[in-house]
Amino acid sequence: MNILIIGSGGREHALAEALRGEGRELFVSPGNAGTRRFNVDIDIADHQDVLEFCENERIDLVVIGPEAPLVDGLTDDLLAAGVACFGPTAAAARLEGSKSYSREFASRHGIPGPRSAKFTDIEQAIAWLDEIGKPVVVKADGLASGKGVVVPDDRVETERAIFGMLSGQSLGDVGRTIVLEERLIGEELSLIGFCDGSTVKALPPAQDHKRVGEGDTGPNTGGMGAFAPVPGVTPAQVIELTNSFLQRAVDGMRAEGDLYVGMLYAGLMLTADGPRLIEYNCRFGDPETQALLPLLETDLLEIMMACVDGRLDEITIDLAGGTAAVVVVAAEGYPGTPTTGLAIPAVASGRARIIHAGTDYDADDRVISVGGRVLGVVGQGPDLESALAEAYTVVDQLTVDGSGLFARSDIGWRHLPRDAYGAAGVSLTAGAATTARIASAVKSTHDDRVVAGLGSFGGVFDIAGFAGMDQPLLVATTDGVGTKTVLAETLDRWEGCGADIVNHGVNDVLVQGARPLFFLDTVASAKLDPEIVGRVVDGMAEACRNSGCVLLGGETAEMPDVLTAGSVDISGTLVGVVERSKLLPRAGIAPGYKLVGLASSGLHTNGYSLARKVVAELDLHDALPGGDGESIGEALLAVHRSYLGPLSRALELDLVEGLAHITGGGLIDNLPRILPDDVGAEIDSSSWDMPPLFSFLIARAGLSSLEAFNALNCGIGMVVVVAPDRVEALQAAIGEQTWVIGELVDRPGVHIS
Ligand code: AMP
Ligand code: GLY
Repeated sequence: MNILIIGSGGREHALAEALRGEGRELFVSPGNAGTRRFNVDIDIADHQDVLEFCENERIDLVVIGPEAPLVDGLTDDLLAAGVACFGPTAAAARLEGSKSYSREFASRHGIPGPRSAKFTDIEQAIAWLDEIGKPVVVKADGLASGKGVVVPDDRVETERAIFGMLSGQSLGDVGRTIVLEERLIGEELSLIGFCDGSTVKALPPAQDHKRVGEGDTGPNTGGMGAFAPVPGVTPAQVIELTNSFLQRAVDGMRAEGDLYVGMLYAGLMLTADGPRLIEYNCRFGDPETQALLPLLETDLLEIMMACVDGRLDEITIDLAGGTAAVVVVAAEGYPGTPTTGLAIPAVASGRARIIHAGTDYDADDRVISVGGRVLGVVGQGPDLESALAEAYTVVDQLTVDGSGLFARSDIGWRHLPRDAYGAAGVSLTAGAATTARIASAVKSTHDDRVVAGLGSFGGVFDIAGFAGMDQPLLVATTDGVGTKTVLAETLDRWEGCGADIVNHGVNDVLVQGARPLFFLDTVASAKLDPEIVGRVVDGMAEACRNSGCVLLGGETAEMPDVLTAGSVDISGTLVGVVERSKLLPRAGIAPGYKLVGLASSGLHTNGYSLARKVVAELDLHDALPGGDGESIGEALLAVHRSYLGPLSRALELDLVEGLAHITGGGLIDNLPRILPDDVGAEIDSSSWDMPPLFSFLIARAGLSSLEAFNALNCGIGMVVVVAPDRVEALQAAIGEQTWVIGELVDRPGVHIS
């Protein structure tokens, strides 16, 4: 049996290890230092060259690792010449080759994903951003070797990514068509299955770590480490996910006239609303494959042959028990420009396996690095912890100071503390388990301004950064999420409440012109549930990172006889800094000034006692009347948005005279807080569209307009006071849809018509 593997990464080295065997001749092209004895020199971009090699060496099976040759139709050319090939045809590989095709295919076949749309025009893309009014992800439509996806932190970054791609500046022609999609929040899973055109057999679910930094922060990479199976995903769930995301795609492909043969990889996000498709890949994942193949007990070649022969249904796939984990060792500079030519030291690998990725031999026959991801170290054990311990023993030797190599030290972090808690059970208190569960999320917000954080009595924050300021003023605010947590409990959605309280604080200090520095939280409940606190803190940490704010400390309180079972109280304090000359509101605010409103994302953190009464009898999963398909529960739990991103530019340009955060008490109570005593406001309530959630609540509660504007934000979450001649400049600087909702008058009070 003669086998040719195409590709040069860790995946291909792992495939070569798994396909080796007696009576088999292996060839790899281009290969790396790990596959050296199999490497052959073929121009894989030249299909004729590949065909000639197959003929000369009597190749029985070609296994294609990477996406580019698949999308490029290498399979089609091999099949046409009668050479068996494991990997989809160009038509089927469009699932990865074109993000827009893939999204349209998924929606044709009822495969759930985020809202998304395709654009070639900047203005239309921006208009869509405004329309959906939620964070988005920006993706180049075509293949961009892992660089085509930007997950922006704020509006400014979103626009920068859109401009960069559509103008051709960031990715050349590949970026001239983009897909924008709603940003999903949750844990990621890689579900990868063998396909023969009709039957699908999935491998255990794996989890990759795409971001370069600890705690899943920083730019996207090809993947910094992975493990399988993912603890907590039940066999029943795997069957359901396989049916919904892999089988449906293979069936859909067949119905549309193409057979999907090879590996199909569904990148999934387990969101609070259920699993959603992030993307399809038309191949084995890398590094996932390095962890998955050691778990496979059935001969890989036998499975692949069954796939190409269309008889996968006859095969049983046996798996080893336990867990395998891979930690990627990368060269400094990755995912930007990595240092190449680094010497790879010889280390004692024990039972761990070292898989080569970006490696080669130099003129003196020494192994050197030639790419960003250099090696993968694979450990295997009865559970995730032991598998990782095995891998890290080797990783630590490879990444010593001066090696030029680095690795993430927290692969598996989402599952480790929980497991540690489960395993230790009795010995670990809920408090200790909570600390373990939240540690990496909290640390992911830290930078060198934090002198003492987690575990210290008081958080210590370095103000050296104020040195450049003339007269820094600290601005502090404290608030709570209130009874919104009752809905979070009903629907088991906690992350949003963490973001709610951070963004509330961010907006409160922003109103005084200040930028956030640090945040401290309190989560109180009758009985401490480390997982719930963990999810709340995950949400806080993400919101903190989005605002450049440090999560400096906090308190989890257990109060069994004070709070009722199941209830959780979430509150927090945020401190920001402002230059005295930039303090808001400014002194000159006077009648004639205009009021510009920014949209709220929902109720934010106010009006929940009323809202809960209104919906008490309703099913929260029902669609919101007049909404665009979201449920009543989703609409009510929409995360309190931060206005830091949209207002940053306007503040820099000094276009803002005053800001009012529309919280409890609505426009009526909050606007006067920033106006001189003898100045009031006239508001034209027809100047913006009341969002469906508000019309629905107001109608069901039978509120008068006065009551409504005194209890709810009614769709306006932040109001900017601006000089009349600067309205247009302000609106341009904000860059999202805003409305001139009224103006200041020389009559105190807020008058709404
Ligand atoms: P992709 O190349 O599509 O896998 O995207 C790279 C990474 O970006 C994914 O693994 C996710 O972490 C993130 N990502 C992509 N799409 C989304 C989305 N719609 N929502 C949230 N994160 C996403
Ligand atoms: N590990 C992600 C990928 O292979 O695309």
